[in-house]
Amino acid sequence: MTTIGILGSGHVGTNIALAAIANGYDVVLSNTRGPETMASLIDELGAHAKAATSEDAAAEGDFAVVAIPLSTVDQVPVGPLAGKVVIATINYFPERRGHIAEIDNGTTTAPGLLQRHLPQSKVVRAFNMINAEEMSHDGHPAGDPRRRALALAGDDVEAKQLVAELYDQFGFDALDIGPLSESWRLDAGQPAFVAHQDLDQLKRNVANAKRLPA
Ligand SMILES: NC(=O)c1ccc[n+]([C@@H]2O[C@H](COP(=O)([O-])OP(=O)(O)OC[C@H]3O[C@@H](n4cnc5c(N)ncnc54)[C@H](OP(=O)(O)O)[C@@H]3O)[C@@H](O)[C@H]2O)c1
Repeated sequence: MTTIGILGSGHVGTNIALAAIANGYDVVLSNTRGPETMASLIDELGAHAKAATSEDAAAEGDFAVVAIPLSTVDQVPVGPLAGKVVIATINYFPERRGHIAEIDNGTTTAPGLLQRHLPQSKVVRAFNMINAEEMSHDGHPAGDPRRRALALAGDDVEAKQLVAELYDQFGFDALDIGPLSESWRLDAGQPAFVAHQDLDQLKRNVANAKRLPA
C-alpha cells in the first residue's frame, strides 16, 4: 500500500485525500493545529486516512502533497521529505496576501520557493490549476469526452512520471510543461488556470501564457 503524506487539510488536502483513497492509497493528513483537530475529517474519510503532525505526515508518506498557503512554506519539515517527490498545489495571490518581488520579477515561482526550502526533495507543481472539489469529483476514464487535462512542471523526470500516473488514476490527462521555472504558465490569471480543457486546449493555453505585470 502506498501512503501519501498530505500537508494541509483544507479544501485541497481533503479532496486529494478523497481521490487518493478512492484509488487505493492510504493518506496521512496534517494541519497547523494538531491531529486532534482533524478527528471528524478522519471519521469521514474512513480507515485509510489518519491524522498526524506535519513532521509525521511527511515522514510516513512515500511521497507528499503540500496543500498550504504560500505564506507558510518555510514551516514545511525539510528532513522527512528529503529524497521524496513533493507535489506543490500552492498558488500565489499577491492581491490577497501581498507581493513577493522574486516571483513578480520572474526570478522564481510559487513552487520554486518550496523547492528552495526543500533542496533535497523533488518538487512538482500539480493540481494548482483546478478547483479543489473537482480534484475528487470531476475525474473521468481515458476516452470519456468529459475527461480534462491537467498540467505539471518540475525538474525531475521520474517525479513527473509519478505525478502523471496520479493524474491518470484520478481521471485526468497529464501535460508535462517542462521545468519548475516554466510553472508560472499555470499561475492564477493565466489562460490554463481553472479552465475546463482537454489536452489540445491545455497545450494551446500553456503556449499562450504571458508574464503578467506585477
Ligand atoms: N481551494 C482551491 O480550489 C485550490 C485549488 C488549487 C490550488 N489551491 C492552492 O492550494 C493551497 C491550499 O489551498 P486550500 O484551498 O486547501 O487552503 P485552505 O482550505 O485554507 O487550507 C489550508 C490548510 O493548510 C494548513 N496549513 C497551513 N500551513 C501549514 C503547514 N505549514 N503545515 C501543514 N499544514 C498547514 C491549514 O491548517 P490550519 O487549518 O490548521 O490553519 C489548512 O488545513 C493554496 O496554496 C491554494 O492557493 C487551492
